[in-house]
Amino acid sequence: MKALILSGGMGTRLRPLTHAMPKQLIPLANKPVLFHALEAVRDAGITDIGIIVGDWHKEISRAVGDGSRFDLRVRYIRQEAPFGLAHCVLIARDFLGDDDFAMYLGDNVFGDGIAEAADRFRHSRPAAQVSVTPVGTPQEYGIVETGPGGRVSELREKPRRPRSNLAVTGAYFFTPIVHDAVRAIEPSRRGEREITDALQWLVDQGHDVRAVEVTGWWKDTGRIDDILDGNRLLLDSAESRIEGSIDAASTALGPVIVAPGARIIRSHLRGPLIIGEGSIVEDSYIGPHTSIGAGCVLSEAGVSGSILLDGAAVSDVNGIHWSVIGRSARVGATPAGTARHRLVVGDHTELDVVA
Ligand code: G1P
Repeated sequence: MKALILSGGMGTRLRPLTHAMPKQLIPLANKPVLFHALEAVRDAGITDIGIIVGDWHKEISRAVGDGSRFDLRVRYIRQEAPFGLAHCVLIARDFLGDDDFAMYLGDNVFGDGIAEAADRFRHSRPAAQVSVTPVGTPQEYGIVETGPGGRVSELREKPRRPRSNLAVTGAYFFTPIVHDAVRAIEPSRRGEREITDALQWLVDQGHDVRAVEVTGWWKDTGRIDDILDGNRLLLDSAESRIEGSIDAASTALGPVIVAPGARIIRSHLRGPLIIGEGSIVEDSYIGPHTSIGAGCVLSEAGVSGSILLDGAAVSDVNGIHWSVIGRSARVGATPAGTARHRLVVGDHTELDVVA
């Protein structure tokens, strides 16, 4: 079985971060979302990977390379514009050949990975298999209706009046019959070739399409809140690892990961949290569910439930919560007694300050 990982999207809902980097390289627990995807696919026993890339192809191929450091063989397939998930299958035909394959949306994270779903597919080998999970807002997803044994009877992409709350997540499994389906369908109203329509085509032709419920949590990291939530969920299963230094005047409670070269000085760490290589944390408080990238500097800072990308700096500011601070961005305080905010804010940035 091969795998197709889709990393072509523009991530407009993740601006301003995605002005400077593809959404698939945004770190959760200090590891790009896409690396979590590659590991999930590898742990499902798949080593032959095609990654669909768009305008960010250079950044993605620079980060992943030929895949050897993940024990994978990676090849890149260029998609000229985001023409839909089924279009990705269409342009990957040469790579996929007549093999069965997993299709994995590169911005999805599964707490338990996809190994179990892959085994179910290998074992029963329906024409296609989707991983589904109940959601609170079915209007935002592809939705399935199922019959006995999880056989799919109907799929709809973002239905206005959903007839079930079972959403299709970002892990699909296909036999080669899907190539007929993606050729047969037309682009949808949003101008994309929907994989949901291809799956419905298979159902209509009498093929067996199965839905398998996801065990564990699932996150589509399409929005900032999802990024923070995914980071929180991943850190919840972190285990302590101190490779950097924590001085005698500091305290550390709960699972705390301090990467090599990081230095914690007169500070209080309350895990689960991770502090990246070479970062310096001085006279600060770092609270639960915080990921601090490499080369960050925090001084007299208080941060919790947040993500700091590489090279970010915070000084003399407390109470930073549920925040994302971009690469080499700086958050600081104005001199005492100055009741003014000084902001240099990039395009599409969001700031909420204490009124
Ligand atoms: C896509 C699929 C949708 C699925 C979702 C899962 O939606 O079209 O069926 O439920 O991914 O993340 P998109 O994120 O492209 O809107």
